[in-house]
Amino acid sequence: MLIQIPRGTYDVLPDESAVWQKIEETARKVCALFNYKEIRTPLFESTDLFQRGVGDTTDIVQKEMYNFKDRGDRSLTLRPEGTASVVRAFVEHKLYGLPNQPAKVYYIGPMFRYERPQSGRTRQFTQFGIEALGSQDPSIDAEVIALAMTFYQSLGLKKLKLVLNSLGDPESREAHRNALIAHFKPSIGEFCEDCQNRLEKNPLRILDCKKDHNHPLMETAPSIIDYLTDSARDYFSHVKEMLDEMGITYELDPTLVRGLDYYNHTTFEIMGSSKGAITTLTGGGRYNGLVSELGGPETPGVGFALSIERLLLALEVENISLQSEGALDCFISSIGDEAGKKASVILYELRQAGLRADKDYMDRKVKAQFKQADRDHAKFVIVIGDEELEQQKAVLKNMADGTQEQVAFVSLADFIKSKISSGV
Ligand code: HAM
Repeated sequence: MLIQIPRGTYDVLPDESAVWQKIEETARKVCALFNYKEIRTPLFESTDLFQRGVGDTTDIVQKEMYNFKDRGDRSLTLRPEGTASVVRAFVEHKLYGLPNQPAKVYYIGPMFRYERPQSGRTRQFTQFGIEALGSQDPSIDAEVIALAMTFYQSLGLKKLKLVLNSLGDPESREAHRNALIAHFKPSIGEFCEDCQNRLEKNPLRILDCKKDHNHPLMETAPSIIDYLTDSARDYFSHVKEMLDEMGITYELDPTLVRGLDYYNHTTFEIMGSSKGAITTLTGGGRYNGLVSELGGPETPGVGFALSIERLLLALEVENISLQSEGALDCFISSIGDEAGKKASVILYELRQAGLRADKDYMDRKVKAQFKQADRDHAKFVIVIGDEELEQQKAVLKNMADGTQEQVAFVSLADFIKSKISSGV
């Protein structure tokens, strides 16, 4: 029996990886423009981190985490998201004590959630995310959103919709919470078991329920916008004003609650035209209580994450191809054992000189070696046979125009480099 890949995972094959590299490179470039630096945290953390960080009543913690015991009987979890880990690292390394505030970081890496796999939803997926910790300024909420939009636009995506909401401060949240309990309590028996459990613990989660989203009480549920305190409303106005000034358009959606518990104030999603039912490309927002919840000093934070899997679907729908050519500078074709040995040495020298080069390793005939050079889109082919060995000169063929010339072995690298830099 052949062993197969686990359900909900996939391989990125050699012909597909250039697109991933291009996306990651774009993410890194945009982060550099906005002055965000990379942080790398472990793929697994203490289970407690996500229980406390993401929230006990969320679907992620209740149903989707990959938990396991290690040989030392510790309960560990494959990270389902990046924010809790970044905050843990921020607290653990006391980054809040550094003069460089806010701490602006980004990450690109795999996350794991035990979800029902479908188009755009996998059990291992790759998030690109950013977090800005330490600033209360509404303009940094706008910066975080602007970074996500700039990233998508750099890749050529156009059909994007930014959806915005505010979940307010703790006071707004408390008033809204009480209103939600009063609203749902009399009919809670009509809701699923999860919702019944959520009623007292975290009624906001009811609004996010996948099973009961069509229940009539969902539509009439009290809206957070009506419970915002003056200062929370003011904060949100500032964020909207900054986005207006930057020319970033958005839609307001007071039902946008997000699936993780740490959010307050600004929350947002960027929707894209992906195939099938899933269209949220990016989710993010402010999480002012999370650093103190995880044992650090009171520190505000804001960020987002998006997955490359969903981005690829959106690129496909908009017919955007990110294939880079991946062309070789030169391919060495050799005839005979001695020439083959020399080809290996020259190949090494070419690579040392910074040229992308390869040779035949399959004992092919000359014609087939040229075919391989074509498959690799080689700009030049170097031919070495007995005669060339004797003269210490190779035949160099320019694959673009078919011209050939003899070049001394020792001059090959410089010669090819000068041809390439002069665009020949
Ligand atoms: P999230 O909404 O859970 O937020 O996930 C963010 C993004 O990750 C989603 O918009 C989606 O693109 C992608 N995603 C989530 N689950 C899957 C999946 N199973 N397969 C493919 N893609 C998926 C967070 O993770 C927060 N940590 C975001 C954040 C950062 N908020 C503040 N800072």
